[in-house]
Amino acid sequence: MTDRIDFAALPDDFAWGVATSAYQIEGAVAEGGRGPSIWDTFSHAPGRTHNGDTGDRACDHYHRWREDIGLMRQLGVGAYRFSIAWPRIVPDGDGKVNAEGLAFYDRLVDGLLEAGITPSATLYHWDLPQALQDRGGWTSRETAEHLAAYASAVAGKLGDRVRHWATLNEPLCSAWIGHLEGRMAPGLRDLTAAVRASYHLLLGHGLATAAIRAGATDPEVGIVNNLSTVEPATGSPADAAAAVRMDGHTNRWWLDPVHGRGFPADMREVYGVELPERPGDAETIAQPLDWLGLNYYFPAVVAAEPDGPPPFARQVRRPGVPRTGMDWEIDAGGIEALLLRLTREYAARKIYVTENGSAYPDVVTADGTVEDPERTDYLHRHIAACARATRRGAPLAGYFAWSLMDNFEWAYGYDKRFGLFHVDYATQARTLKDSGRHYAELIGSRPRRGTPPAA
Ligand code: FCB
Repeated sequence: MTDRIDFAALPDDFAWGVATSAYQIEGAVAEGGRGPSIWDTFSHAPGRTHNGDTGDRACDHYHRWREDIGLMRQLGVGAYRFSIAWPRIVPDGDGKVNAEGLAFYDRLVDGLLEAGITPSATLYHWDLPQALQDRGGWTSRETAEHLAAYASAVAGKLGDRVRHWATLNEPLCSAWIGHLEGRMAPGLRDLTAAVRASYHLLLGHGLATAAIRAGATDPEVGIVNNLSTVEPATGSPADAAAAVRMDGHTNRWWLDPVHGRGFPADMREVYGVELPERPGDAETIAQPLDWLGLNYYFPAVVAAEPDGPPPFARQVRRPGVPRTGMDWEIDAGGIEALLLRLTREYAARKIYVTENGSAYPDVVTADGTVEDPERTDYLHRHIAACARATRRGAPLAGYFAWSLMDNFEWAYGYDKRFGLFHVDYATQARTLKDSGRHYAELIGSRPRRGTPPAA
């Protein structure tokens, strides 16, 4: 490993964690009173996912959660970021709360706390109840209100023990990939729908933030965005302008409104879609947050694409640059740059890296090990970059590796493996990968703590 990690730069109570999400690991889609979500519908539709894979069984975490807490203990992590399945809590999207759904997370939270692991709950990691989609989904303002009602139900049950809350995971993916590019649920390609969805997602974030604050004891609330550094592929003015648009589409559209700056004027023009704004919404969206979540995977190098959909820019494949099994460019410097940007441009008070990781085609060898030097290298370099950003002033409070274990990687199905544990989907056996061992050693060399209390 070439990059030395400047551990001394990290706060003593730095949270070392792992992350997952409900639909990607739980399975048991028809158990415990759960209703269908848009991902059940999408994954079961022909041709939508690799190999027709679905989350029907996934990692069977719904039944194996105790064993999975054991995996976390093996890593020695102090924090676990998971998501709550909205369709388990409110199967019909509105109306009745399903006590059995709440009870599952209640047990999980108790199990984590018993193991000395701080729970960090995300309310919405893409699994919208299908019943709400049938009524317009995120294109409808009501969905934002339903998110807040669901947030109240969850905060009321878990808020005495869970202090660390995220409203949305990567609203960019819900809006742009789900409604504009059609590669994720609900699978639409409709600019107006996408822009309306983006608006209602952020409105829902604001309403849910207030609901959590009203229902939980002394919560810390944040939002999780996947951001990218953006640079133009060439020195041409057209590519430079494309990079500004891509930055607006990927980063500023999601950060500016939450920080009281409104939706970026240049991007409103690029989309040319009227936002469903009402008086008071801007304030609802912009209430101060306790922390910002950064999911970082790859940088964006872009060229102008005048004939494409907004933002009229496309990612360029640079030859000779190292890539992961997702074909994503590797650039640890990007995480450092983004942490510093959140600090300097958005005056972030506290940041968590809520996801970071890499997929490779791992295999379990005859002696029961998984050799994944590329993932170890990726992990180590990105953590080193996080420490550098912290040394330069970023208020980084924790790092969550994506992911605890291999899981249902959305449209890629089970083909892409991001775990620190390998999962054999036929037997559900979990095997620690070398990268997981490296992470455990790295954490073990530091004091073991959970998520720090609010400043
Ligand atoms: C992120 C998602 C997460 C996982 C990783 C690889 O965009 O939040 O669920 O799929 O990518």
